[in-house]
Amino acid sequence: MTSTSEGGVPGTRPEGVRNEREAAAHVREMFGRIAPRYDLLNHLLSLDIDKVWRRRVAKRFSAILHNPTARVLDLCCGTGDLAFTLRREAPAGAEIVGSDFVPEMLIRARAKAVQLGAGVMFVEADALALPFGDRSFDLVSCSFGFRNLANYERGMFEILRVLKPGGMAAILEFAEPTGKLFGILYRFYFRRVLPHLGGIISGNDSAYKYLPSSVSKFPSPEFLKEQFERAGYTDVQFERWTGGIVTLHRARKQ
Ligand SMILES: C[S@@+](CC[C@H](N)C(=O)[O-])C[C@H]1O[C@@H](n2cnc3c(N)ncnc32)[C@H](O)[C@@H]1O
Repeated sequence: MTSTSEGGVPGTRPEGVRNEREAAAHVREMFGRIAPRYDLLNHLLSLDIDKVWRRRVAKRFSAILHNPTARVLDLCCGTGDLAFTLRREAPAGAEIVGSDFVPEMLIRARAKAVQLGAGVMFVEADALALPFGDRSFDLVSCSFGFRNLANYERGMFEILRVLKPGGMAAILEFAEPTGKLFGILYRFYFRRVLPHLGGIISGNDSAYKYLPSSVSKFPSPEFLKEQFERAGYTDVQFERWTGGIVTLHRARKQ
């Protein structure tokens, strides 16, 4: 992949931040503040469809997950919901690790692991500088986290580094819907209703204004596919789900 100055996109830039360092600090602080209400809002604002999306990710990668020696990393795991869904799909021997750079999220993920009796290890780590060796994982997943990285190119390279040859990256992200009428309804909900509800319930207005604004600035699935290919991935594909409001990207390390 060429540098961002040659047409790439740098990464998320919440309003008012000037550079990558400030973007990462802003994202970390914002998720720290909304962590206590994160699960409630996730399920409420998505009308529970987020659970369907996570289960679908696990089904798509069942060939990897069913391997009893599989090693899986769920990046930007938040409170761990995708990691737990992957755990349910995988046999006991498979290892599932969740990582996130916000301790308040990981506290909740670990408590849920105990409650569910789920064998998932949670590690505090920045997705742009992972504390794992090269060629460590068969699958690296990331749901609704990639968009928040301060540098998408570095995120792609870091995932590529920790994947084993033949391993897969699975990135689930929000996108703009494709249908015209659905698009109008969705934008009304996403830009007007959701920030309002999210603000009231979480007590954090700006976090739920950031969500639609970060989605509208996020690269299109087509552009992201190109970026994965330029970063050196093969078999890069994407699927649009639920009228195009989320996209599953998959990419292989050769
Ligand atoms: C919208 S939440 C998604 C959480 C979870 N994957 C889910 O599906 O509910 C985004 C998560 O990405 C994490 N995150 C953002 N940038 C990160 C980075 N550079 N390194 C590690 N975690 C990061 C945030 O802390 C937050 O928990």
